[in-house]
Amino acid sequence: MPASPKLFVTGATGQLGGLVIDTLLETVPASAIVAGVRDPAKNEGAVNALREKGIEIRAADYTQPATLASAFAGVDRLLLISSSENGKRKVQHRNVIDAAKDAGVGLIAYTSILHADTSPLFLAEEHRDTEAALAESGVPFALLRNGWYSEVYTWRLPLAFKHGVFMGAAGEGRISSAARADYAGAAAAVLAGGDHAGRTYELAGDASFTLAKLVAVVAEASGKPMTYQNMTPDAFRVAVLKAGAPEIVGKILSDTDAGVAKGALFDDGGALARLIGRPTTPFQATITEFVRHQQAGGGAPSHA
Ligand SMILES: NC(=O)c1ccc[n+]([C@@H]2O[C@H](COP(=O)([O-])OP(=O)(O)OC[C@H]3O[C@@H](n4cnc5c(N)ncnc54)[C@H](OP(=O)(O)O)[C@@H]3O)[C@@H](O)[C@H]2O)c1
Repeated sequence: MPASPKLFVTGATGQLGGLVIDTLLETVPASAIVAGVRDPAKNEGAVNALREKGIEIRAADYTQPATLASAFAGVDRLLLISSSENGKRKVQHRNVIDAAKDAGVGLIAYTSILHADTSPLFLAEEHRDTEAALAESGVPFALLRNGWYSEVYTWRLPLAFKHGVFMGAAGEGRISSAARADYAGAAAAVLAGGDHAGRTYELAGDASFTLAKLVAVVAEASGKPMTYQNMTPDAFRVAVLKAGAPEIVGKILSDTDAGVAKGALFDDGGALARLIGRPTTPFQATITEFVRHQQAGGGAPSHA
């Protein structure tokens, strides 16, 4: 590998991608980093912010293999951030892996899902396919099996505040979430150096909580009473749709809660803290910051 390997981050206009690049910049020169952007013309604000940091921008659309072929030229290590387009990810990720192989990329780090091989979540299926594609490719790879971002739970708060009730279907299941920035730190650590080929990291927060505990934290931070209402997954899905959410959101939330009840988002292996070299961000901190920010009239923090 060259003295200053070329590090490529896909989905660089996304929230995780942006945090990975900011973390990399703490230890790596900007000239070593390339930001892959689906459509630079459509993301001017985010692209200009990256350019101002001295980062090279290359178009890299998972659906356009030609862009990927030129994007990966000269790249040593690649972070493939999983696409946000559920249902289309198998083909998209395989396009990225094929192009990386053709370009001679030396390592692909992929943001998978916690315990992908055994996860009951329907979201895990596309990740399993991508993990299989990586294994078939022959390109050295590392699996960053990310648990849930704590920020994800703030998405359910506006509805919960409206009714004073936080609905869910996770029962007593425990969730080992961490801040998005923690996962970004792990991805940056794996991309920036060391021998991670062949490694699988189950990444999750140091502590875990039930949804009832989460609700207690929200009530304390807001000073407003709130209770947790446990429902069957189907009743929860119907309630989410009734609140105006699209079908896919109802499916993801209810299926995820059902999986949480079976332990799908619990892990106490400590790999995330070890990779980032510090404890993970307590979920209470993320949730409390969100609630206080909203109460101060600031809406959601930009990273929620
Ligand atoms: N662990 C969790 O709790 C959790 C929660 C939500 C999502 N996720 C997964 O983790 C990923 C990163 O999270 P995030 O918070 O950074 O999500 P995000 O802010 O939505 O970013 C997703 C990124 O993927 C890019 N992308 C989507 N389709 C693409 C395509 N066809 N070609 C190239 N780039 C494409 C987006 O590009 P544009 O900027 O052009 O849209 C964006 O940069 C998500 O995409 C999703 O797979 C995990």
